[in-house]
Formats: sequence, C-alpha cells, structure tokens
Amino acid sequence: MGEPVIDVHTHVVPKGWPELSAICGGSGWPWLRVDSERDAMIMVGEVEFRPIGAECWDAGVRLSDMDADGVDVQVISPTPVFFSYDRPADQAVKVARIFNDLTLEIAAAAADRLIPFCQVPLQDPDAACAELDRCLAAGHRGVEIGNHVGDRDLDDEGIVTFLQHCAGVGAPVFVHPWDMPTSPRIDRWMARWLTGMPAETHLSVLALILGGVFDRVPRSLRLCFAHGGGSFPFWLGRADNAWRRRGDVVRGRSAHPPSHYVDRFFVDTVVFAPAALRLLIDTMGEDQVVLGSDYPYPLGERPVGQVVRKAPFLTLEQRVKLLSANARRFLGLPPREV
Ligand code: CO
Repeated sequence: MGEPVIDVHTHVVPKGWPELSAICGGSGWPWLRVDSERDAMIMVGEVEFRPIGAECWDAGVRLSDMDADGVDVQVISPTPVFFSYDRPADQAVKVARIFNDLTLEIAAAAADRLIPFCQVPLQDPDAACAELDRCLAAGHRGVEIGNHVGDRDLDDEGIVTFLQHCAGVGAPVFVHPWDMPTSPRIDRWMARWLTGMPAETHLSVLALILGGVFDRVPRSLRLCFAHGGGSFPFWLGRADNAWRRRGDVVRGRSAHPPSHYVDRFFVDTVVFAPAALRLLIDTMGEDQVVLGSDYPYPLGERPVGQVVRKAPFLTLEQRVKLLSANARRFLGLPPREV
C-alpha cells in the first residue's frame, strides 16, 4: 500500500521524570523502578502497576518495531495512570507539563513518524485548555483524555467546555478508558481491563449522545474512542431500542436516537477478531474506523494491524481507509493525492 500506515493508539512512558512528591506534594505518585537497561516497573506508591520495556521510552526500539510491523506513523499518547485527575488541579498541571515535555523529546527522534498527543488536567477545564494550548504551541498534535473525571462523564459542563476548545483550536481528541470501578468480583483475571474498559468506553459514548453533547458541539470536533468504541457498537441496537421505547428515561437531551450520531466520532481497530472488525464497519461505517494497536502493551495487537490486513471481506479501498485515510481525517492532515 502506498499510503502511510498510521496507528492512532499507542502509548509512551518517558524515563527520567523527577520524583513527583518532591515537586507536587502529596504521596502515592507513580514512579519508575528501573530494573535493567531494557526493563522497568511502573510503581504506584509501593504497588507494582505494570512491567514495561524500553519500547516505552526508547524511540529507536519503537521505530524498529514499527518497521517490523509495517507501521509508518504512530500517534504516541500518555499512559493513563499518569493523568492525575484525582489530584488537586495545580498538582495535575505540574505532572502534565513534565510528561508532555518528556514526550516531545521522544517524538523529536523521528518527527515525521511519531505524532505526540498530550495529557491535560481535565478536572480543571481552564487549566486543561491552557495546557493544551501550551502543548500545541510546543509541538503536540492532539490530546488524549481519560473517559471520565471521577463521577463526571463526558457530558459534564466543564469537560464539554474543554471539548469545545479542542474543536476551536482543531485538536483531535483520543478518548481512553481508565479508572475502572473495582470490586472483589472485578479484581480478578484482569477483568477491570477485559470487562471494565469496554464498559467505560460504552458509557462515555452514551454520555456524549444522550447528554446531548453532539447536538451542542460543532461537527468540527474530531473524537476517537479506543478499543473499537468498547461495547458501544455491539449494543447500539439496544440503545436505539431503549431510546424509542423507554424515551421517558433514556432520551435525555439527545435529539435523535444513538445510531444517528455514529458519524460524529472514530473508533480504533483494537478488537482482535475479524468478525468484530466487520461489526465495526457495519455499525460505524467504513469512514469512522482507524487503525489502533495499544502498542506496546500486552493487551494490544501484535503484529500491529494484522486483523485489518488479513480480513478477507475488506476491499482494497476499505483497507486504505482503515490503515491510513481515516486517520488522516482524524488528525486533520490533508488527504493524499491518489
Ligand atoms: Co491504550
């Protein structure tokens, strides 16, 4: 394929950030326990959160993986554990600045192949807008946000203010599930990731729809949801049915049934099964699905893009859309000449 393959869902973890308790105050901050040249452990306080490798911080390792997987361009986004939305806003501002600046250093190693997205202190809309503006001026190309801030969903007035700002400055927004509910029932088998994450994303899409956000924000707002939009596409018929038959409680503020809004946001291809990808195309439309991988994490797809490349039901034109052209629209890049 002549078009550059663009992966919109990857994560970085920079190395060498300062001790956050010393800069921000408070305790229980994430820190990196470096175990070797290539291995480290993200720690949260004294708890081991996730083992990571050099591909998280070393652009050279990342680029050679991209070459092996046939990926030309990656959007590199924060790892949600650093969002700090539950902290006082002034502390979250400091954390965002540190990680955003370090991410620019990773992207600088290959400015034509690594597209940096920033994080923002979303608990404070004014501070979030200011940090986004600072980051865009410094070289970031978009923003990744968590799908909620405590009990505030994406239809919260402050978050909508931030989304309006993103539309105004033309910044694409990648929405990632995080901060999943915990309970003894769900703290097993990675169930927080396997069931909690898709449910979180499902809820966020519904909040934008039923909260009437899509009726209020301009069409120029470019949103993309991780993991194929979570459970949303599979259960769109259920949501439409509820909107029609239990409109007394379900309609909320939306002027139309949920299926009316599927052209207002993108979803990525991190769904693993060809049948699930087919459902995404059928439900969301072939113009709304963009290549993602969750690289370099173990719940991500490797080799990147294999489901899209192998799915026998895709036409060549559809494959180009999924691997490249739709991401160009999400990112606001001009379409390539055919
Ligand atoms: Co991810």
